[in-house]
Amino acid sequence: MDTSIDFLGVTFPNPLVLCSGYLGITASTWDNLARKGAGGITTKSIWLNEHKGHNNPVILANEDFICNAVGVPDAGIEKAKEEFKEYLKRNNGVPLIVNIIGGKADDFVAITEAVNELKPQLIEVNISCPNVEDEHGKPFATSCPDAARVTKMVKSVTDIPIIIKLSPNVENIQEIAQAVVEAGADGITAINTYGPGLVIDIDSAQPILANKVGGVSGPGIKPLAVKKVFDIAAAVDVPIIGMGGVKTGRDAIEFMMAGATLVGIGSALYYRGEAAFKIVLDEMVEWCEASGVKSFSEIVKKTHSVLDSSSSL
Ligand SMILES: Cc1cc2nc3c(=O)[nH]c(=O)nc-3n(C[C@H](O)[C@H](O)[C@H](O)COP(=O)(O)O)c2cc1C
Repeated sequence: MDTSIDFLGVTFPNPLVLCSGYLGITASTWDNLARKGAGGITTKSIWLNEHKGHNNPVILANEDFICNAVGVPDAGIEKAKEEFKEYLKRNNGVPLIVNIIGGKADDFVAITEAVNELKPQLIEVNISCPNVEDEHGKPFATSCPDAARVTKMVKSVTDIPIIIKLSPNVENIQEIAQAVVEAGADGITAINTYGPGLVIDIDSAQPILANKVGGVSGPGIKPLAVKKVFDIAAAVDVPIIGMGGVKTGRDAIEFMMAGATLVGIGSALYYRGEAAFKIVLDEMVEWCEASGVKSFSEIVKKTHSVLDSSSSL
């Protein structure tokens, strides 16, 4: 089976892309994951200047969920550019999605301008990080005007297709999706972590994370994430990168049927190790072959023919 798929005119060798924030710091790590079967690489979120994360402990993982408050530590765009350059030079056929973050809308513009000359295949705009609220206030993704303003500003300074990464922590994700698409978003990534979540150490009665609360990801959020992707796909006509608790090939197919063209592999790296891309892809191919599906594009949005997004509890 030909596993390749088109996303915004870019050919991905398979639909499984590394989620932002996982193992995504250096060109050599990205290259290693590409060799191990990643269909695309999303970098961790890059700030304009050096940004300190939160104090340890920053992450708690168990078999049901992951709760993190890493606080998006990063050395800033100048350092990251060296790694992008190095990765793109290798030209290994696995596209690079540069994920950017900013405290102010102007920061997104400055980072995009700095990234433009390197010509990564796509730019993912993280307007949805729940972990930096103390410093920067509510994420831009929680308000239609704010989300649209950042989208428009980034779009106005680049020819590289931009994908806006949305937050599930909103009342109506369809309205936010429509606002960013009207403002020029070429695609949407959904979703960032749920939250805030709280994990308590019952022996001390204290929160486990130093930040006290964190964003929740992993298998426990999967049905919620699938519904968000489904709702977005019903509301806008741009391609989607779907993610949230994907662990198996069946999970990835589910996201595609809900409307995702590409599917993020994040927490699966914790549960299945670096081989996650290959294992999940093999499971997808096996399912497709058994079901008579000839290409992944056939299953994108398939469930929309039998269900509409008005289904509520
Ligand atoms: C430790 C950790 C760090 C993350 N860092 C980022 C980040 O820098 N930028 C971003 O857009 N999303 C970040 N995310 C969110 C993931 O990219 C993804 O949207 C989310 O975790 C859902 O996928 P999953 O359940 O497979 O992990 C992070 C998630 C975790 C657990």
